[in-house]
Amino acid sequence: MSAKLSTIDVAALRKEYTLRGLRKADVDSDPMRQFGKWFEEAVAVQPAEANAMTLATCTPDGKPTARVMLLKGFDERGFLFFTNYASRKGRQLEANPRAALNFFWAPLERQVCIAGALERVSREESDAYFHSRPVGSQLGAWASTQSSVVPDRDWLEARLDEVTERYRGAEVPLPPTWGGFVLKPETIEFWQGRPNRLHDRIQYSRQPDGMWKLERLSP
Ligand SMILES: Cc1cc2nc3c(=O)[nH]c(=O)nc-3n(C[C@H](O)[C@H](O)[C@H](O)COP(=O)(O)O)c2cc1C
Repeated sequence: MSAKLSTIDVAALRKEYTLRGLRKADVDSDPMRQFGKWFEEAVAVQPAEANAMTLATCTPDGKPTARVMLLKGFDERGFLFFTNYASRKGRQLEANPRAALNFFWAPLERQVCIAGALERVSREESDAYFHSRPVGSQLGAWASTQSSVVPDRDWLEARLDEVTERYRGAEVPLPPTWGGFVLKPETIEFWQGRPNRLHDRIQYSRQPDGMWKLERLSP
C-alpha cells in the first residue's frame, strides 16, 4: 500500500488464542441455552456492553450495512433489539427481513455468529421496554429522525428542546416509528479461538422439523 495513514504496523498486530477449546460434547443441545451460558460468562468478564453486537442487514438488491446494537433480551423466540423502524436498518428490514448478528467477546476469545429472519415485536412489548428506559432516552427517540441527514447539531438540540417542552410533566408516548425486532435464528455458530488459528467452530442449524443439527466447521 502506498499512502501511510498510521504509524502502527497494522499487519503485525496479532494475538494467539490459548484460553480453552470447544467440543461438540461440551455444548448444550439447545443453542439458546448455550448462548445463555456464554452470555453469562461474557457479562462476568466484560460487564460493560457484553450485550453489544454487530447487526448486518441488506437491501433487496444486495447492498449490505452493519452497525453496533444492544441486545435487549433473548428467549425461545430469538434475539431482541430496539430501534427506529424508519431508520436505514429499519427500512432495509422492512424490504428484506433477514439479518445477521455477531458478538465478539475478546476477553474470552469467543464470537457468536447468528443469522435468521426477523419480525417486529408487539406494540405492547415495545411500549413496556420504551418506558423502562431513562426519560432522556425516550425524548431522544422522539428527537431523532434516525439515519436521515440533518443540517447540524443545533437542529438536533432544538428538536430535543421542543419534545422536552411538549412532554413536560407528562408520560412520553411510544413513538410510532420506534420498536423492537426479534431475530429468529436459523443458524448459530459458537467460535472459540485456538492456537495456530485452528479455531473451534460449532454450528447449530435449525432443521425443517424444528430440531437443531450440530456440526463442527473448519476454522
Ligand atoms: C454500543 C452501541 C450500542 C448501540 N445500540 C443501539 C440500539 O440498541 N439501537 C439503535 O437503534 N442504535 C444503536 N446504536 C447506534 C447504531 O450503531 C446506529 O448508529 C444507528 O442505529 C443507526 O443505524 P442505521 O443508520 O444503519 O439504521 C448503538 C451504537 C453503539 C456504538
